[in-house]
Amino acid sequence: MTDQYSDFVNTPFGKNVAQRLGLPAPVRLRRYEPGQILCESPVLVAGTGSYAASVRSLLTNAAVSVVGSLDELGEGRLGGIVLDLSDARRPSDLAALPELAAPAVKRLARNARVVVLGTDPTQLTDPVQVATQRALDGFTRSLAKELRAGATANLVLGPVREGGTGEGVAQQAEANVGEAVRFFLSGRSAFVDGQPVRVSDAAAQANPSVDRPLDGRVAVVTGAARGIGAAIARTLHRDGATVVCVDVPAAGEALARVANEVGGTALQLDVTAEDAGRRILDHARTRHGGLDIVVHNAGITRDKLFVNMDESRWDSVMAVNLASIVQMNETLLGPDGLGEGGRMVCLSSQSGFAGNRGQTNYSATKAAIIGLVGALAPQLAERGITINGVAPGLIETEMTGKMPFATREAARRLSSLQQGGLPVDVADTIAWLVQPASAGVNGQVIRVCGQNMIGA
Ligand SMILES: NC(=O)c1ccc[n+]([C@@H]2O[C@H](COP(=O)([O-])OP(=O)(O)OC[C@H]3O[C@@H](n4cnc5c(N)ncnc54)[C@H](O)[C@@H]3O)[C@@H](O)[C@H]2O)c1
Repeated sequence: MTDQYSDFVNTPFGKNVAQRLGLPAPVRLRRYEPGQILCESPVLVAGTGSYAASVRSLLTNAAVSVVGSLDELGEGRLGGIVLDLSDARRPSDLAALPELAAPAVKRLARNARVVVLGTDPTQLTDPVQVATQRALDGFTRSLAKELRAGATANLVLGPVREGGTGEGVAQQAEANVGEAVRFFLSGRSAFVDGQPVRVSDAAAQANPSVDRPLDGRVAVVTGAARGIGAAIARTLHRDGATVVCVDVPAAGEALARVANEVGGTALQLDVTAEDAGRRILDHARTRHGGLDIVVHNAGITRDKLFVNMDESRWDSVMAVNLASIVQMNETLLGPDGLGEGGRMVCLSSQSGFAGNRGQTNYSATKAAIIGLVGALAPQLAERGITINGVAPGLIETEMTGKMPFATREAARRLSSLQQGGLPVDVADTIAWLVQPASAGVNGQVIRVCGQNMIGA
């Protein structure tokens, strides 16, 4: 699907018309390309929390110009603001938000990024501290709704650091929070907006390189013949992985094209087959010597109002979107499946959070994924494996091309970024989650929806 309105308002004439009539003005989002500098304009790092110093050195090492105040910036605009309030304990500490951020927000460049750093409130016990840290969530979501011109705001919540954590663990927390900050400042997070991400101090390996963080890894992507799955295959390949592309035999030709394009292999397979997990594992082992990354992307919709929902619509959606994953995981997460450093990502959906008219079957499966990811994460963490979910909002694919025009148009414009996302936006979020250095993110479901207000 192409967004013709977005194309129109990005012409000089269209921009003028949109401005005069007060119509939405979606901008072309800054998306990641290898070799791209993390942030071209200077980034303001402010706040007294425990991560500010390590974020400053991370950015300096990534050749980003870091400033500590607007005076230091002088003329020009900010590419980002990192605001560290991880040490805020009582409501009065929140005064730093308007003091530090309000003047800086006025100086943001197009496609700028705001990243707020906090402490995970679920790990705190003091009610006042919990309330204070929770305030950052509401603040970030609201700021994200106010930003314009492709700018986003997201929240990174680090682990509690006092009492019993040794030096090594504290350094690991800094490194893991730093990786999340890197993602949110980069073009990889173009369509992630208003989202909180919790980061632990789990031991992580460094990525082999900045431009090829998945070098030497073998990945399998289900539903890879088209749409989001094809974009995931291309993106994991771009980042260095060898990719096994899985799809149904009926999509064999398109599947072969994607597999050839990414220099990987095609495996024609219906994921609902009883031996699907075993066949995937055997293929990855014999053809590529192992398996490190699994992306459960294959999914279908069979929409109908619940009262008119026939058994076959219900059963087929349950089988593809949920039961197949549970069944394949028996092998893929079994004793000879993913090992230390393994990564799994499952596709959920905005409908899994909010429900959707006509999608009782689909929303049930996508909500189930949120539950599955959260419940498996602590078990897998003990084995050095992470599992996360990604919940796309409106992404321009054949699936959403089938939506009625008015519904699709409303879903596009009623989001903070005033547009639908592209398959690559989902793929880039997944590519970040499966990096060796992303071990601190586990059991999360990240919404890639441009902060869509439909299904919020
Ligand atoms: N497009 C969106 O806006 C959107 C929004 C939320 C969630 N999602 C989810 O993202 C995933 C990909 O969506 P998409 O828009 O690219 O869909 P799509 O329909 O364009 O592609 C899905 C692919 O999965 C394959 N597939 C279906 N059943 C299969 C089976 N039994 N075995 C193997 N392969 C099978 C299809 O052949 C197809 O190639 C799905 O899980 C979907 O629910 C998409």
